Amino acid sequence: MSSQIIPVEPFDYVVFGGSGDLAERKLLPALYHRQVEGQFSEPTRIIGASRSALSNEEYRKFADAALKEHLKKGEYDEAEVKKFLARLFYVPVDARSDAGWDQLKKLLDEGKERVRAFYLAVAPGIFGDISQKIHDHKLITKQTRIVVEKPIGRDLASALQLNDTIGKVFKEEQIFRIDHYLGKETVQNLMALRFANALYEPLWNANHIDHVQITVAESVGLEGRAGYYDTAGALRDMVQNHILQLLCLTAMEIPSSMDSEAVRDEKLKVLRALKPIDASNVEQATVRGQYRAGASAGGPVKGYLDELEGGVSNTETFVAIKAEIGNWRWAGVPFYIRTGKRLAGRVSEIVITFKHIPHTIFDQAAGRIVANQLIIRLQPDEGVKQSLMIKDPGPGGMRLRNVSLDMSFASAFNVRNPDAYERLLMDVIRSNQTLFMRRDEVEAAWEWVDPILKGWEEAGQQVQGYTAGTWGPSQAIALIERDGRTWHDDI
Ligand code: BG6
Repeated sequence: MSSQIIPVEPFDYVVFGGSGDLAERKLLPALYHRQVEGQFSEPTRIIGASRSALSNEEYRKFADAALKEHLKKGEYDEAEVKKFLARLFYVPVDARSDAGWDQLKKLLDEGKERVRAFYLAVAPGIFGDISQKIHDHKLITKQTRIVVEKPIGRDLASALQLNDTIGKVFKEEQIFRIDHYLGKETVQNLMALRFANALYEPLWNANHIDHVQITVAESVGLEGRAGYYDTAGALRDMVQNHILQLLCLTAMEIPSSMDSEAVRDEKLKVLRALKPIDASNVEQATVRGQYRAGASAGGPVKGYLDELEGGVSNTETFVAIKAEIGNWRWAGVPFYIRTGKRLAGRVSEIVITFKHIPHTIFDQAAGRIVANQLIIRLQPDEGVKQSLMIKDPGPGGMRLRNVSLDMSFASAFNVRNPDAYERLLMDVIRSNQTLFMRRDEVEAAWEWVDPILKGWEEAGQQVQGYTAGTWGPSQAIALIERDGRTWHDDI
């Protein structure tokens, strides 16, 4: 099975926060892979920029160490790494003073005709300062784009402010708001599954679907990010962006094409159709949790409060929500979503449960007829599973059995599964916005999330404790079971 790699135009990628955690873990390894796969055209450069006073040589050493640490076994190739490091440069710049900006301009002027991308892998507090400096030092060419990482705000007001600040310097078509979930293979496959098959779309509505579940479970804890995480919590960190994007792709109408505006228009309609959850219904529709000490990934782990310096916090590390979409297609179909840290496993999946057959012709001895489920697995083992009722093979009369057609992409195609950032970083160069969030989408997502946050405050909704290594608080189980349904935990 071969895939075709189409080279992109020569580019200069300037990574602000170039010596930070995201560059080290994700951006540099992703760019290395794109080089190895032959996607770069020459001359192409990657320029790290941050406050640290590093030389080009020191930055190359940092990148080399990052590749050694984060590439998988067998992926580090001496010759490729040498070529990769040769395209790396570093400029120390200060977002809040003019230090370093002339040097950056001089370096970029060597490649005025190339695509120029500025990646802001920094705290959102300095997005505005950096954008302004880019503008003031005349670094914006016709071929310039800017990439911003989440969090885009911590509520609607701050998101509006952030979008305004960046919008003062860059046009919307130059702004790429990254949500790395949209770069995951299975997320794109969701569109292939829905829109490249005749099978599902006629059934994809309230007449045939009973409910949808979206789970993004993590086994990790804070990973040294307590400072950020404790001010955010699971709703802001995962639901406002990643999970709502998954929900949009699952629920949206069929766009007229894969054109970025067509796809994003449809996603926006879903966000705007989400039924409000506020102080009046927040306690019935949501559950907040926080992990206590327990066992995860094979060993004992601390509770959330013990990981925090202060030791007191009402921040949720788990959230479950019963969401509803108020439109014709989804009337009466709940979307149960849940996400959390220190859960029983690392699993992300979308589960579509179809309605029960309206009438059975089989007698009791045939056994229970289970509703069909389509499971779209994002991780760990990306793939698609469709459950079906069949006759149990062999004699003994008509006995029915629930079986699965299970396709793991890794074993079916025998290709390396690219990291989400690889696709997205190249889409920026290609100027393809389909898998990036438009300004109005981010704001509409906050419009739905804000009343939940406010509702929690007004209702004084406390976090429920759960033992690390389990599936979350018992209240989350009750949330779905009181509707006569269960979470899909057969993972
Ligand atoms: C990030 C969140 O956006 O996504 C993290 O800030 C989370 O808290 C991460 O761990 C999950 O990403 P993935 O790709 O590992 O599922």
